[in-house]
Order: sequence, then structure tokens, then C-alpha cells
Amino acid sequence: MLEPLSQKPTFPHRHLLGIAGLSAQDLTFLLDLAEEAVGVSRQIEKKRTSLRGRTLINLFFEASTRTQSSFELAGKRLGADVMNMSVATSSVKKGETLLDTAMTLNAMRPDIIVVRHAKAGAVHLLANEVDCSVVNAGDGAHEHPTQALLDALTIRRNKGRIEGLVVAICGDILHSRVARSNILSLSALGARVRVIGPSTLLPAGIENMGVEVFRRMEEGLAGADIVMMLRLQRERMDGGFIPSLKEYFRFYGLDEEKLALAKPDALVMHPGPMNRGVEIASRVADGPQSRIREQVEMGVAVRMAVLEALSQHLPNG
Ligand code: NCD
Repeated sequence: MLEPLSQKPTFPHRHLLGIAGLSAQDLTFLLDLAEEAVGVSRQIEKKRTSLRGRTLINLFFEASTRTQSSFELAGKRLGADVMNMSVATSSVKKGETLLDTAMTLNAMRPDIIVVRHAKAGAVHLLANEVDCSVVNAGDGAHEHPTQALLDALTIRRNKGRIEGLVVAICGDILHSRVARSNILSLSALGARVRVIGPSTLLPAGIENMGVEVFRRMEEGLAGADIVMMLRLQRERMDGGFIPSLKEYFRFYGLDEEKLALAKPDALVMHPGPMNRGVEIASRVADGPQSRIREQVEMGVAVRMAVLEALSQHLPNG
């Protein structure tokens, strides 16, 4: 952001559809670029020109607060024109298909489309059809690459490294695109990743992703450097995955007592939106070990880095 990208190692991808397919070098490239964007965002003058004249469309088929607004701010800070489209007000409500919506937007010649969709794979499908770069802002329970990048950035800034850290990802692993993308990125960057959850919320074969699997918080949290809590994705559940919310909190909710099992300097993270009293106690969410607000700040920086990295593949980029 301070020197032209051409003088730096390049990012060899036209789209960002997932962490899968990115090398440790790609990840580090994005994190380093994001580090510069943190500095830019902390200045009074936050405007850069790398996306000047470009059009960014935010196409969100699922609700979002922080992801959509941070992509909007990131695009604007880099000088792009940003348009937000949410399904509630679009022709999707009138029965238009995903691809028809995409082709309609494509005809308006955007440079980058950021897409969130409830179905895994929908973003890949769209990327094959349009002419511009596509960023996955979350597709079903599949991937959410910019969340994983902002989590990695938050960890790296606080701990000075990622390699060798023990990261415990806790809760609804089954329905979580955040868990999947984080497992891929943190493993690629050398962390030891654990997942903790009740059997009903652990995907079959998750150990094949190279993680250690725990069913009890007491065991999984012991010695953890990072405790990453996940929201119960009730909108993706169609049956009785948990006995009751009260019961869930008792066994899997992060309170001060359970947090004390992790390392004394362990950091608490949560992608948001949080359900206080379900997966996390307020005292922990707002406590000294929490980095939840910092994650939000890093979200803007990481999205600036991603947009900037992709911009070199745009025509005349
Ligand atoms: C996550 C998501 O949408 O996958 N939220 C986010 O992007 N900040 C996690 C969640 O919804 O629980």
C-alpha cells in the first residue's frame, strides 16, 4: 500500500474463493499487506488510490453486519465505488436465480464482486460465470477465507507468531465455515489446531483435516494459547443437535472457570455475532483476555489487503 505492488512478491490468484489452494507464502503475503493497512486505517487520512475508478459490488444473500460493512469500508478506503446489494431488496425475492442475478450484475462491469451465500459452492459457481474477480464472504458451511485471515492477523499481532501455537476452536464445528477456513490457514502457518465440541456438532472425519479432536472442554482447553469460540449456527440446524441452550452453556460455554484451564496468557476470540450466555459468558467476552474487538478492526485491514492483492489481476491492474 505504501509502495506499488509490482515491487513486491505477487499474489498469483484472480479470485479468493477459500483458504484451500493458498500456500503459506500467499497467506503471509496477505497478512503482511494487511499489517500495512492497519497503519493506514489508524491515520486521520485513510484514503488510498489503488482501486480508484474500480467498482466493487457486495452481493449478500445472507445477513451480515461486520463482514459486509468491513468490505464496504475497505473498498472505499482504497478508492473504489462500492455498491451494496442485499437479497431482501433484490429480484431474488421475485424468483431470479443466483446465476441470473450474477449475470445481470456482471453486465454492469464491476471489477470485484464480494459474495455471501447460504449454499456451499455457490461462490465458486458464480466465479466461473462472471468476468471480474470474486471474493467469498462465506458460502454455507464451507469457507470464509477473510475471517480466517483476520483471525490469523489478530493472533500474529498479539503473539508475534503463529507457528507452534495451540489453537482450540470450540463449539459448532459442523456448521462453521469459520472453523474450516481457520483449520486450513492456521495449519498451513504451523499452528497445532484442536477442535472441541459435542459429537453431534463435530463433522465425521474432521481428524482427516489434521486436527486433534476433543469432546470435553476440560481436555481440549488444557495448554491452549488461543481459545476461539463459535456461534451455534441454529439457522443451519434442522433437528435436535443440542439438548437445550442452558445445557450447552454448562458443558461448552466459555466462562472464567473453563478459560482458566487454558494457558494464563491465552487469548479469547469469537468471529461474531456472539450469543452471550450460550457459547460465551459476558465476563469472558468483555474480559482482559478477549480480542474480539480487535478482530473487527483487523477485518477491515485484511479486506483492504485482499482487494489490493486481487486488483493487480484486473484489466490494466
Ligand atoms: C461468521 C459467519 O458469518 O460465518 N460471522 C462473521 O462473518 N463475522 C460466523 C457466524 O455467523 O457465526
